[in-house]
Amino acid sequence: MLSNEDNALLTQTDPGTPMGDLMRRYWIPALLSEEIPVPDCPPARVRLLGEELVAFRDSEGRIGLLAERCAHRGTSLFYGRNEECGLRCVYHGWKYDVEGNVLETPAEPGSSDFSKKLHHTAYPTHEAGGVIYAYLGPREKMPLFPNYEWTQVPLNQSYVTKCLLECNYLQGLEGECDSSHLSFLHRAFTNERNQTLYKSDGAPAYETEETDFGVRLIATRKAAQSQCYVRFSAFVLPVYGCVPAGRPTNELDGFEIHTYVPADDTHTWRYDIGFFRGRTVREDEVHRRKQIGPDYLRMRNARNNYLQDRQMQKTVNFTGIEDFLNHDACATESMGPIFDRSKEHLGASDKAVIAVRKCLLNTVKALQNGEEPPHVLRDAEDNWFPHLDCFAYLLPQSVDWRQHFNYLTPSAAKENPAAFSFKQKAVS
Ligand code: FES
Ligand SMILES: [Fe+2]
Repeated sequence: MLSNEDNALLTQTDPGTPMGDLMRRYWIPALLSEEIPVPDCPPARVRLLGEELVAFRDSEGRIGLLAERCAHRGTSLFYGRNEECGLRCVYHGWKYDVEGNVLETPAEPGSSDFSKKLHHTAYPTHEAGGVIYAYLGPREKMPLFPNYEWTQVPLNQSYVTKCLLECNYLQGLEGECDSSHLSFLHRAFTNERNQTLYKSDGAPAYETEETDFGVRLIATRKAAQSQCYVRFSAFVLPVYGCVPAGRPTNELDGFEIHTYVPADDTHTWRYDIGFFRGRTVREDEVHRRKQIGPDYLRMRNARNNYLQDRQMQKTVNFTGIEDFLNHDACATESMGPIFDRSKEHLGASDKAVIAVRKCLLNTVKALQNGEEPPHVLRDAEDNWFPHLDCFAYLLPQSVDWRQHFNYLTPSAAKENPAAFSFKQKAVS
């Protein structure tokens, strides 16, 4: 349970709010590369942390992320002309470059140096793995872009989808930290493996561990033949839920990163990023694409009750709804736009959710007291993450996972033999 004050503190991210200030200290996904695929293509609208922005790729391929309203009299730059290394407003032709410099004010007299006195809001961007990330915080505090494995692998070894979640980001993020819902919400009656592992023990034991990147979450279920089924997940500050989704047990070939970026307090962009360390992605593996329209809205949504099929609920799966993405959306959107956490009743299975909230609350309160947030990268030597790994593994009950996976430490102390960055380092 959270007090109303703490709930508001965690869920509000507009400019000037404490959580908004915290999120603005990290690089966060702003849009997909495919939304502005080539130089001089049409711009894209971006709603992020309650701000209305517009993104464009200029004639030389550089990316601009500008405040949407023109500095002159506020017309939306979304309608602008993307031409000759700048975005030109359709109303009176003011032209902006990717850094927010006003290049031309053609309706002003030739002698006017008006434009030189103006600077339009523009945020730095970084493109990696099909995602354009942005930094919306104070320039002098801008951290290094983190070299997570999923930003480093070749493009054909990763995939990404984006869709709108019609509720507060925290509801989505908390779902990634809660392994027990796998035994219910995502249960299929037809999947043998899924049946055995999740149904055999619906009440996993949880461990949580604070790390330099956030929190590691470990859920252990009893399995047959004196084994245990261990799932390693991670919360990475400020909005990443890393999970072994879609990877077979005992496979150490990458994982998925489910990202919940506030568009505003009641709408969230969910980015699902996945990567393989050792192979290319097959098109049929990105099943979510079939669930999302070209406007990044899910076809199954609250307005059509997620197309729930009650017969299917009896015979096929636990929800009667197709695809994990829609299961999660149904569970989290139906809590309402911003869930009032003073009304909840947390149990032992919510240990990981509690740990992640605590991490966020401590971090946001520390920032309010003037402390620098954790996992804001300043030193290139610290910019590698061998200890950030997520997978599901069957271990004999007698084996301690800490010894078996001795690189899963609270900070980057040891090489991870499976990690892509390790292989890269070894060659260089
Ligand atoms: S409102 Fe954009 S140029 Fe006038
Ligand atoms: Fe889920």
